[in-house]
Amino acid sequence: MDGETDGLDVVACERCEELVACRSRIVNGVGPADADLLFVGEAPGAHEDERGEPFVGRSGDVLDRTLREVGLDRGDVRITNCVRCRPPENRDPRASERENCRGYLETEVDGVDPEVVVTLGKVPAEHLLERDVAVTNEAGDVLEAEIAGRPRRVLVSVHPAATLYDPSQEAAFASALARAAEFTDKSSGQSRLGEF
Ligand code: URA
Repeated sequence: MDGETDGLDVVACERCEELVACRSRIVNGVGPADADLLFVGEAPGAHEDERGEPFVGRSGDVLDRTLREVGLDRGDVRITNCVRCRPPENRDPRASERENCRGYLETEVDGVDPEVVVTLGKVPAEHLLERDVAVTNEAGDVLEAEIAGRPRRVLVSVHPAATLYDPSQEAAFASALARAAEFTDKSSGQSRLGEF
């Protein structure tokens, strides 16, 4: 069986045998369908699989708190993942799984049409930029990538979980999110950045 969608949501998909066996449910993106910022993580973990929502575990707490620090609420932004089903033992999603899910992500990027796509960690950065990315060196950079045939701004960020393992990453995470906030109309009265 192939994928079945309802707008931006995937309602049925059996493309990845191992993930179908492991998941409790498909975890679709959340947040406004016209958000200025689209955050893209790797894949759902155990909490996300249980709740059916991306970034609701400890990484989500860090994301929510840091969004507030830069003047944003979780409900202001859209949050999704490269892959919508939980990989076993929280392993990284395989390239084949990311490819199986790419069309869903492209549909989401196309539909939301954000000012910036913010990649959380190495997996989504490399998936969307289609090259090796040294996330700690490139965090905060706004780059261009072609996604679904259109040029898009991609802002590289460390993964929020990185700040839990290594608190010295907190500043890099906060400054990437502050940069992202500049692209929203909530950004302290400043106009949106027209250029990168
Ligand atoms: N990590 C991710 O990359 N995505 C989630 O949804 C949760 C944790």
